[in-house]
Amino acid sequence: MILRNCKALINGKIEEVDILIEGERIKKVGKIIRGDESINIRKKIVIPAFIDVHVHLRDFKERHKETIETGTKAAISSGITTLIEMPNTEPSIDNMENLKKRISIINKKSYVDVGIFFKFTDKIEKDVEDVFGYKFYMDKPFSDETFIKSFELGKIVCYHAEDYKIIEENKKKFREHHKIRNCKAEVIAIQKVAKNALIKRKKVHICHISCSDSLKYLNEYTTCEVTPHHLLLNKEHYEEYGGIAKVNPPLKSKKDNIYLLEALKKGKIDIIASDHAPHSISEKESEDSPSGIPNLDVMAKIFLTLVKRNVISLYDLWRLYSRNPAEIFGIKEKGYLREGYYADMVVVDFDAKGKIDPDEFFSKAKYSPFEGFKYHGDVEIVFLRGKIVYYDGDIVEKRGRFIFRDF
Ligand code: DOR
Ligand code: ZN
Ligand code: ZN
Repeated sequence: MILRNCKALINGKIEEVDILIEGERIKKVGKIIRGDESINIRKKIVIPAFIDVHVHLRDFKERHKETIETGTKAAISSGITTLIEMPNTEPSIDNMENLKKRISIINKKSYVDVGIFFKFTDKIEKDVEDVFGYKFYMDKPFSDETFIKSFELGKIVCYHAEDYKIIEENKKKFREHHKIRNCKAEVIAIQKVAKNALIKRKKVHICHISCSDSLKYLNEYTTCEVTPHHLLLNKEHYEEYGGIAKVNPPLKSKKDNIYLLEALKKGKIDIIASDHAPHSISEKESEDSPSGIPNLDVMAKIFLTLVKRNVISLYDLWRLYSRNPAEIFGIKEKGYLREGYYADMVVVDFDAKGKIDPDEFFSKAKYSPFEGFKYHGDVEIVFLRGKIVYYDGDIVEKRGRFIFRDF
């Protein structure tokens, strides 16, 4: 198939080209004379598809919150063709039996390519095959020995950096969620991770940074990510939305929003990720609302709007949500529009306009603190490994599979 008259993002620059797809891959980028079937892209922007490295797909015993099918449908509608999911499922992915079960459901039900982070526990002796790396939760008790061990394996470890001891201390003093899980809890945890990464010369990844102060402690062994809610929402939104905007780490101040956005533009933040964490609406509206915001349906609308409004550049969006995720986590032959790479691409419609409406979500979690957000820019066509899987609002093919990092 040939995509004619594309304005394609090649190595971060827009070029007017045709793109020839053969099988699952890009065969040629340039002027293509001959060929069979072709689509006229009419000078629309074509970019490498998005890669989201922080997603909770639930399923297993939490199918009322989300399933691999509904979550990955939400992903594809946002132009995300590849994601890595977190292991805090019920039961969690911390043993080979559950990992195998998970892989089997992914291969049967997924609409995008899905990889897994294994839960880091003291049971791990050597690198687990078939996963991209590990997730370490610092907001739950763990021994120093286990923590140190997490810097000694080959695959990358992603840290949920909120220190459980500080959280416990704060619980004695405060009742408000954002005071219990304050910036001190995050900063102390990040300091510990960054220091050990440096000592052990071990590359690590820090999930969902929420405080401007956290940025001071990063070093050449750390990469980090930010979510749309920590970039654009703050305590005022929590006051307005209540449980719907309750998340860990909690929303912080407007000042943190501004600093994080500046850091993002300056290249100090490596990755954008959704941290899609769906719960049922009745759970979220209950007295003891669980933490988590479902973001997969809104990712493209929000970030393409930031591009349209010149808050970030299209180059930034590609770097943060496609190239860096692929490079940092070793997702092979994705993240670029390049000959020989997988044909995972998004045709963007920068004229699409509307307001975010959770009733239209593919996710089971049909609520959002971004409800009513005026977007200007959306995904029009999505290609996953050479085939159109999403076209103008409709999912047209199920084409996901399990993927892993094989070293
Ligand atoms: O808000 C959160 N929700 N933070 C986490 O770390 C976990 C996530 C979830 O799984 O619900
Ligand atoms: Zn987390
Ligand atoms: Zn998470």
